[in-house]
Amino acid sequence: MKPGRFITFEGIDGAGKSSHLDAMAAWARERGHDVVLTREPGGTALAERLRELVLHAPMDALTEALLVFAARRDHLVQLIEPALARGSLVLCDRFTDASFAYQGGGRGFSLEVLGRLEDWVQQGRQPDLTLWFDLPAATAAQRRGAVRAPDRFEAQDLAFFERVSAGYAQRASAAPERFARLHAQGERPAVWAEIQDVMRTLAWW
Ligand code: TMP
Repeated sequence: MKPGRFITFEGIDGAGKSSHLDAMAAWARERGHDVVLTREPGGTALAERLRELVLHAPMDALTEALLVFAARRDHLVQLIEPALARGSLVLCDRFTDASFAYQGGGRGFSLEVLGRLEDWVQQGRQPDLTLWFDLPAATAAQRRGAVRAPDRFEAQDLAFFERVSAGYAQRASAAPERFARLHAQGERPAVWAEIQDVMRTLAWW
């Protein structure tokens, strides 16, 4: 049996990661992988309910951090860990790096507390690979355009997303063996070619 693998997709809103998730799922299925496509916050019935609250209900920064990690705990226990144990390839739209980038960078919430939640909730589980769709916050804002009913994150200003980007950069420099930085301001086929290069360099395929 092939070992399970856990790949996360990260980047600020408007970085274009979601369209590549589907392409990656199709690419991996063609190569015989059992693929589980999921997202955070979310991925289970309970975590999807928590997602609604995190995206739309006013709350303080600690509550927000606790809810994203509560959703993550349920997601890990119910879906991610069983899928990895079966040998599946788990492709996840955002994971804990988003908490460090959005709650830590964007909101300015304690990185130390986030680190403790990470240890507590994940018990050592980390992605095998994180594809980081990096692009200037101003370019991402143009791509997002005017969202009709923005959620609590989409409604933030450019300075917030610049702090989120800096949060991602900090996480990437702390775990360079896990992160692949993609030049996400490029055209879609160029970004896809970068992803293919990353996948080719891994021995898993
Ligand atoms: P998305 O599914 O459209 O990417 O929206 C999810 C939003 O939630 C996005 O703006 C980032 C935010 N988020 C956090 O603030 N913390 C987290 O831990 C995660 C996973 C997402």
